[in-house]
This record gives sequence, structure tokens and C-alpha cells, in this order.
Amino acid sequence: MTVIPFRSASSSYDISIGKGVIGDIASLFNVRRKVLVVTDEGVPAKYPQAVMSACPDAIIHTVPGGEAFKSLATVEGILSVLLDNGFTRSDAVIAVGGGMVGDMAGFAASCYQRGIDFCNVPTTLLSQVDASVGGKTAVNFKGVKNSVGAFHNPSAVIIDTGTHATLGPRLFAEGMAEVVKMAATSDRALFERIESGRYGDDIEGVISSALAIKVSVVTADPSEKGLRAVLNFGHTIGHAIEALCKGSLYHGECVAAGMMYMCSDKVRERLSPVLQKLGLPLSDPYSASEIIPLVMHDKKRRAGGVVRCVWVEEIGSFEFRDLTPAELSAIIEKRK
Ligand SMILES: NC(=O)c1ccc[n+]([C@@H]2O[C@H](COP(=O)([O-])OP(=O)(O)OC[C@H]3O[C@@H](n4cnc5c(N)ncnc54)[C@H](O)[C@@H]3O)[C@@H](O)[C@H]2O)c1
Repeated sequence: MTVIPFRSASSSYDISIGKGVIGDIASLFNVRRKVLVVTDEGVPAKYPQAVMSACPDAIIHTVPGGEAFKSLATVEGILSVLLDNGFTRSDAVIAVGGGMVGDMAGFAASCYQRGIDFCNVPTTLLSQVDASVGGKTAVNFKGVKNSVGAFHNPSAVIIDTGTHATLGPRLFAEGMAEVVKMAATSDRALFERIESGRYGDDIEGVISSALAIKVSVVTADPSEKGLRAVLNFGHTIGHAIEALCKGSLYHGECVAAGMMYMCSDKVRERLSPVLQKLGLPLSDPYSASEIIPLVMHDKKRRAGGVVRCVWVEEIGSFEFRDLTPAELSAIIEKRK
């Protein structure tokens, strides 16, 4: 098992990574109290069941899966279970599932009795390397993704790499897109490891390296005022592609296509085979005139009508570029 400590002024917790660590939850998080295990219908039952069997006084609450149910109504359901079962401020919520469950159960934990303890057991690769760390919790509201939420750090994050067995290649690949993103901007050695294709036997090491990047970025910028924007590499255009494709591509697939715009030609040459080998898209069918209006509505738009983009000139490094719509359009058209 690898343990990555998260230490900041406001929060201190450990991220434990390893095969079978779900079974160790009782030694990693205080389960000797009332615990609400929140999961969704698409999460194989054996993962929440493993958590339930380690908790002497637990209730399970299963919500419907999918972004449409990442809503205030679903959070209201979680809060009702907490209240109806007499949960107090010293009790806890444990999320077992992907980023959707983690964001929503974390948000419910952040506001129940002004905040109770929360443990995250992410079961998709994407949520393991990205969503589970950083303290962002949210629901979608009035059609706007993650528009209502709170910063609420977990007290423990437990990443069981055994959960990959049920993921399927597409869900695994979209998690790898986020790993590639972090490696490309911040860790040349990790990028080279992925590039070599020799990482399958050490997925724990790959997750740990990616999380070490996320932890250092989030610790330096807990409330997303500056550096944390590096995590948006590929996301500025990726989010526009995600909106345009209306669900036909996964988030990580859109990020993969988005990264291909925001880098030098030589980085593109190295990124292409890496993404291709993972089965991720290298391009998208949308024109600059379709992409730009969506980018300009994105919350990353800055004063003066420019958009802050993350650009990778050399693998393992990044720079922020504030681009006007015309500059962005020229980049998109050049890549088509
Ligand atoms: N808080 C953050 O910092 C942050 C960062 C990135 C993404 N997010 C959020 O995360 C969400 C996306 O997360 P996601 O990609 O994990 O999607 P998800 O939570 O919707 O999970 C995808 C699907 O996989 C299923 N699943 C989960 N674990 C499984 C397993 N081990 N085997 C088989 N199926 C499994 C789920 O039931 C679901 O159907 C979005 O809502 C996004 O906004 C949050």
C-alpha cells in the first residue's frame, strides 16, 4: 500500500492506494459510529458491500447513476436519510463510487449539520486520480454543471486498484487521460513511463505519481485562485467538445482531444501515440465557430475577453496563455 499525505492549513488526511485496501477501511477511517454509505446503481455491489461489512453501524443509500441525478434533489434524499436516522455531527458519510457519487455525497456531508466527516472511496480511475482529492464537492443546478457546491475535504481517501477489474476499457482510458494530462504538464518521468507502455504492472505507482502532482498543486492553491488552473490542461476546449458531442464522448475523451490543441508540434507528436494506444480520440469534428462561443461562456473566461489556457511547449512543463477568441480560433483552425 502507498500512502500519500495531504497536509494543508485547513485539512490533513491520508490517501491510501493499493489492491484490496477497501478491506482495510476500519484501520484507515473511524467507522465505529453511525456511517452512511452512499453509492450509485452502476457501482458493482461488492465495493459498497465490502465497506458495509467493515462498519458495525452502517446504512447504505443507493442513488441512480449518471449526471442527471447529480442534483439537489438527490442530495435532499441523502440528507433525509441522515436526518431520519438520527445522524449527529460526530457521525460520517462514506462515498463508494465514481466522481459523481463522491462530489454529491461530499456535498451532502459538507452541509449536513454544517459539516460532518466524509471518507471517499473512489472506484473509477478518473475519480481516483482527480475528483477524490482537492475538496471540491458539487451538484449540477439548472443545467449548469457543478454550479452549486462547497469545498469540503475528506478525512480519508481509500483507493483500491482492484476496482479496475470491473471498469471496462473505455472508463479506464478516460481516467488515463487525466493521468496523461498531469504527466504532460508536470512530470516528464511519468509521461515517459506511460509512453513506454510499461506501467500496467504498477498502476499503483502511476496513480501515486499522478496524485502527488494533484496534491502539490491543490496544497499550493486550495481555493483555485491561480496554479490549480494547470489541472485544466485540455479542459478549456475539452469542455466545449463535451457540450457539443451531447454525451457521445466521455469527459476524459474530450480532454484527450482538447490537449491536442494546446501544445507545441513536438509535444503533439509524442502525445498522439500515447493517446492512440489508450484508445482515446486525437481530434474532434467541431469547427472553431462552434467551439469558441462555448469556450467564451466557460467560467475560465477572464476580464478583457481572454481565456486562460494551459499550454505545453515541452513535456513536463506548462505555461498559462491568455488567448483572445481570435487567437484561439487560429489555433483550432491550424490543427484541423
Ligand atoms: N471534485 C472534483 O475535483 C472533480 C474532478 C473531476 C471530475 N469530477 C466529477 O466527477 C464526475 C465524473 O466522475 P466519473 O468519471 O467517475 O463518473 P461516474 O461517477 O458517473 O462513474 C461512471 C460510471 O461508472 C460506474 N462505476 C463506478 N465505479 C465502477 C467500477 N469500479 N466498475 C464499473 N463501473 C463503475 C458508475 O456507476 C457510473 O455508471 C463528474 O460529475 C465530474 O463533475 C469532480
